[in-house]
Amino acid sequence: MKQYLDKIKAAKTLDQLEELRVALLGKKGVLTEKMKALGKLDPEERKTAGLALNVEKQKITQALDEKKSELSLIEMNAKLAGEKLDLTLPVNQGAKKGTLTPMTHVMMEIAAIFSSMGFEMAEGPDIDDVYHNFDALNIPEHHPARERNASFFLEDSEFMLRTETSTVQIHKMEKTGAPVKIFVPGRVYRVDLDATHVPMFHQCEGLVVGEKITLQHLLGTLKTFIESYFEMDNVPVRMRQHFFPFTEPSFEIDTCYEKKDGKLVIGKGDNWMELLGAGMVHPNVLKNCGIDPEKYQGFAFGMGVERFIMAKYGITDMRKLFEGDVRWLRHYGFPANEVPTRAEGLS
Ligand code: DAH
Repeated sequence: MKQYLDKIKAAKTLDQLEELRVALLGKKGVLTEKMKALGKLDPEERKTAGLALNVEKQKITQALDEKKSELSLIEMNAKLAGEKLDLTLPVNQGAKKGTLTPMTHVMMEIAAIFSSMGFEMAEGPDIDDVYHNFDALNIPEHHPARERNASFFLEDSEFMLRTETSTVQIHKMEKTGAPVKIFVPGRVYRVDLDATHVPMFHQCEGLVVGEKITLQHLLGTLKTFIESYFEMDNVPVRMRQHFFPFTEPSFEIDTCYEKKDGKLVIGKGDNWMELLGAGMVHPNVLKNCGIDPEKYQGFAFGMGVERFIMAKYGITDMRKLFEGDVRWLRHYGFPANEVPTRAEGLS
């Protein structure tokens, strides 16, 4: 029996061990044959030989089991060692990072500037009712924007896609009364489509309501904003009288520009470009929101964000801003870790 036990001990692999098990205990194995041979012995001999054989079989089975556990462990460890992850591999340096679209970046720039000037950000619903979009803003009943083919109305209802972020002026004043100092970035919608107009575009609204607010505050605020946004001092700004139903007096604010090598240069030259609309809040608008126009005055303004992007970053085709063309974004997009703040320099 010792020779069998030695063989088991010497087995190097699970396969070798299995071969031994079959040779010893299998159907034609040595011990199986010995068991069969017991039948030929006379009863006395069979009893003692049977007992001895059982002991032998038990020892061999036990040795096989022990060896099996030992070899299984060794083989598993070898397998694990072979499969170990090499964490020292260099990372893929060539992976391309995404960029922020100019729209996202400029919205952040605008927010940074107004925040640094003490404005609070406000938002309102893209789907609003006719009251907030027109009536409360003092827009007369027969204004062209109220036509069904000029704005997107929801069928058979009082609801529509807002045509301007001015709606949020009303929501804000209804909610908190005066004083107010907010900027409102957001999407607006109009039935329009050609090379310079798209049905959805972005605006940023501003509203300041308080006691003794004057036109000087409006002009100072917008001049500071424009110079900060274009990162230039002394940008010439022109106020041109205009009409908006929700402000009186109303203005359009222009800045000058020239074209150099096909590129737009802001702040120089004899051409004027409209940048935004603004004015002193109409007393009717204040009244509609429960604010006493004898006690409070305000100024408001609204700008088209696409126009600001195009003017600063030399983008000539507005549609590119919405197409999501990766090649274009690689060129015009901004690194995501670059937080825009010329505004830091403002006091
Ligand atoms: N809502 C105007 C527009 O969409 C922009 C505007 C002009 C907003 C004057 C104002 C404002 O708040 O005072 O064209």
